[in-house]
Amino acid sequence: MIPELSIMEKAKVITTIPGWREKVPEFRKEGKTIGFVPTMGAIHKGHISLIERSVSENDVTLVSIFVNPTQFNNPDDFNNYPVTFDEDIRKISEAGAAYVFYPDHEDLYRDNYRYVISEKSLSKILCGAFRTGHFDGVLTVVLKLLLISGADRAYFGEKDYQQFKLIEGMADAFFLDTKIIPCPILREPSGLALSSRNALLSEQGKAKAPLFYQHLKRSATIEEARKKLAASGFEVEYVEEHFNRRFGAVYLDSVRLIDNVPLTLKGV
Ligand code: PAF
Repeated sequence: MIPELSIMEKAKVITTIPGWREKVPEFRKEGKTIGFVPTMGAIHKGHISLIERSVSENDVTLVSIFVNPTQFNNPDDFNNYPVTFDEDIRKISEAGAAYVFYPDHEDLYRDNYRYVISEKSLSKILCGAFRTGHFDGVLTVVLKLLLISGADRAYFGEKDYQQFKLIEGMADAFFLDTKIIPCPILREPSGLALSSRNALLSEQGKAKAPLFYQHLKRSATIEEARKKLAASGFEVEYVEEHFNRRFGAVYLDSVRLIDNVPLTLKGV
């Protein structure tokens, strides 16, 4: 019999808020730092890179899985969101995180969403201009999760760059103790940014999707990018430039995809 070389420790799933919060003082007493990676599940390599970064920079890593209904402006989008819980736990465990927080809706939204975190400026452009209330839902759930986590550091992917900037701003505005850490976008070899939504694309859609990144990156102007995307069969929601980056949102196969590239990469 071939001996097993490494035995993977399965992450412990915690479903209640006190179940996690009572552990935090114990970690503090032992001088351990806590890293936190909030997710909505459907774990892919992009999430794994955040988890691995957290594992390398902290003593304990907590990953949350919660498909947050308040950030979906379209009920179909919420209902179709991929749920792959058992696979998620396996991948999270392999990446080295020791704990998964999997709260239920009633517990997290005990106020029935009466209390809402709203940002008045950046949240109104780009995705915010097309997804009414989306960032209220994101900021509200992230504030709850950050406060519950008691984390020293929390990790967010730059694919959702607007989300990252808003969370970073919220942490500063509300004097949160958690440091908000941006992590680079992970891409397929084709250039397509990794996203849970990619799983919803048809085979044809998957073949076409890399053109989103190519046109965003290679076009000389935002007008050119829009035209090329439309000509390639994407329904363009926006292409805009902010923070020295070019941002895009498109629909393909009725699946909404977003991406962004630093302007220094433009034309490369
Ligand atoms: O980026 C996401 O997956 C979600 O917006 C987040 C940060 C987990 C909040 O629900």
